[in-house]
Amino acid sequence: MTARLAVIVSGRGTNLEAILDAIAAGTLAARVVVVIADRPGAQALARATTRGVPTVTIDQRAYTERAAFDSDLDAELARHSPDLVVLAGFMRILSDGFVKRWLGKLVNIHPSLLPAYPGLHTHRRALADRVTTHGATVHFVTPALDSGPAVLQVEVPVRPNDSEGLLAARVLNAEHRLYPEALRRILSGQVAFRDGAVYCDGAPLARPERLPHLHS
Ligand code: GRF
Repeated sequence: MTARLAVIVSGRGTNLEAILDAIAAGTLAARVVVVIADRPGAQALARATTRGVPTVTIDQRAYTERAAFDSDLDAELARHSPDLVVLAGFMRILSDGFVKRWLGKLVNIHPSLLPAYPGLHTHRRALADRVTTHGATVHFVTPALDSGPAVLQVEVPVRPNDSEGLLAARVLNAEHRLYPEALRRILSGQVAFRDGAVYCDGAPLARPERLPHLHS
């Protein structure tokens, strides 16, 4: 049976596009059954529509309370019976209740090698620290922000003359390889979420595997 993905977005949607590309190329056995955005006009919505994927907008501006937004998001998701809920550039923090309800089915991509640089401005902070290796992480979402167990990471080199923009572009490019591969590992059962940890081929994963950087 083809796995059902619900993708939740706020903006640009290049990771959504990469997932749709992998599905179209036959390297990810899944179907995006809905794309849900929290802001009307998100570029990701147009990308979905172009590819024939149904979209729903739950406009965050209409909500004063997080719980009400999360409850509407929950109800919308439930209508689509997703096997996985994929956060792809979703800029809201979800309530503990929502996260617990979708625990083990909720994944996110974050532009750093977690646990390094949770939160915002990850590239700027990596440059300020003069690290030589940066990257991105796909992780299961748990109530603590950017702290859920990692499924897979990708390494990206930091170049001596990098600007924030150059580094961000290099990481984003790697994310597009990372997310479909991480989803493939989850959907194939190679990687599983159990008791708050990630298991790989049946054994607890102490450290997430890291895909090497491919481009110069
Ligand atoms: C990515 O850098 C992702 O890691 C972060 O938000 C960005 C989303 O980009 N969570 P896009 O909307 O997929 O182009």
